[in-house]
Amino acid sequence: MIAAGGQSRGVVGAMLPLVLAAVLHQSLATVAPPTPAQTTAAPHKDPGRPERGTYNVTNANNTVCLLAYMGLQLNLTYNATSQNTAVQEVVNIKPNVTLASGSCEAERAVLELKTDANATVLTFVFTLNSTSSKYHLSEVSLTTTVPDLKGGKFSARNSSLDFLQGSLQYSYMCRTEQTLTVTQNLSINTFQVQLQPFGVTGDKFGAAVECQLDEDDMLIPIIVGAALAGLVLVVLLAYLIGRKRSHAGYQTI
Ligand SMILES: *[C@@H]1O[C@H](CO)[C@@H](O)[C@H](O)[C@H]1NC(C)=O
Ligand SMILES: *[C@@H]1O[C@H](CO)[C@@H](O)[C@H](O)[C@H]1NC(C)=O
Ligand SMILES: *[C@@H]1O[C@H](CO)[C@@H](O)[C@H](O)[C@H]1NC(C)=O
Ligand SMILES: *[C@@H]1O[C@H](CO)[C@@H](O)[C@H](O)[C@H]1NC(C)=O
Ligand SMILES: *[C@@H]1O[C@H](CO)[C@@H](O)[C@H](O)[C@H]1NC(C)=O
Ligand SMILES: *[C@@H]1O[C@H](CO)[C@@H](O)[C@H](O)[C@H]1NC(C)=O
Ligand SMILES: *[C@@H]1O[C@H](CO)[C@@H](O)[C@H](O)[C@H]1NC(C)=O
Ligand SMILES: *[C@@H]1O[C@H](CO)[C@@H](O)[C@H](O)[C@H]1NC(C)=O
Ligand SMILES: *[C@@H]1O[C@H](CO)[C@@H](O)[C@H](O)[C@H]1NC(C)=O
Repeated sequence: MIAAGGQSRGVVGAMLPLVLAAVLHQSLATVAPPTPAQTTAAPHKDPGRPERGTYNVTNANNTVCLLAYMGLQLNLTYNATSQNTAVQEVVNIKPNVTLASGSCEAERAVLELKTDANATVLTFVFTLNSTSSKYHLSEVSLTTTVPDLKGGKFSARNSSLDFLQGSLQYSYMCRTEQTLTVTQNLSINTFQVQLQPFGVTGDKFGAAVECQLDEDDMLIPIIVGAALAGLVLVVLLAYLIGRKRSHAGYQTI
């Protein structure tokens, strides 16, 4: 019994770092994105995870034509007048003070989010390729007020993007945090996205197609699970062998 216990403890000791490493890898990957050293001033305080908002666009005949359910965080870089250096400002879009509007055309859908008493306007343009039946986020623009910026206004726009690719009739889903780099000075962090810019029927999302990042993330729990299952098996075997041995020992004495 004692010998068997010692044996299995040794096995546990060998497996534990592996399992811990896998678990740690996952929590680090989701909690702490690496922050490369920068020559810019200290960034403003971290606003935490943004709340998820439901943003709908309704077309002329009162049917919902674009659905989006997601958390959004803006990351602005600008030349601060007070500090004489580039600063980063990370701000969350607060769903309860944000109004969604927009328009839907056959191959172009627009989602416009207005917040801060309309001082901030964030626009997403989705394009559908009807030949391939695929859509993607093709344009993002932002205008907002930044008191510490010369002129007080920040704006950024990029109309040659290719993010959030999905298929017509399906919704795009990504639980994993993603960073959409719009320009050198604007990136958008997205959290738990589900959206469908085309082919919405009955005010509901179509079947969801998960992004690659989520599928990669799913591998870690599977590996941890397999490691744990292996561990249980080894301990069980060690116990059974140990029991058989001590039993045999008993009989000879
Ligand atoms: C809404 O109007 C568009 C054209 O304006 C039309 O294509 C569409 O079928 C209409 N949808 C419904 C549910 O009536
Ligand atoms: C904001 O952007 C800067 C530079 O693009 C980056 O170093 C920083 O990690 C980003 N912060 C967040 C919270 O995304
Ligand atoms: C982006 O921010 C940097 C740092 O403040 C500034 O030097 C640069 O001019 C900005 N670029 C644009 C396009 O606003
Ligand atoms: C950023 O601001 C600093 C100091 O105000 C200035 O020297 C620098 O030229 C600015 N950079 C840009 C790209 O405007
Ligand atoms: C929005 O929600 C936050 C908490 O999530 C709350 O503190 C704030 O009062 C709300 N604002 C409005 C206008 O409802
Ligand atoms: C913001 O703009 C919308 C129209 O897009 C308008 O209905 C609303 O009253 C405006 N809000 C403020 C605070 O100006
Ligand atoms: C649409 O998709 C087809 C097939 O993948 C491709 O050949 C074509 O270039 C695409 N059109 C546009 C405007 O991207
Ligand atoms: C717009 O986005 C594309 C693709 O990410 C990038 O190559 C391009 O440099 C961006 N344009 C600007 C003005 O940042
Ligand atoms: C958006 O549409 C969904 C589904 O129709 C509905 O449950 C939700 O209340 C709508 N949200 C807003 C803000 O209109």
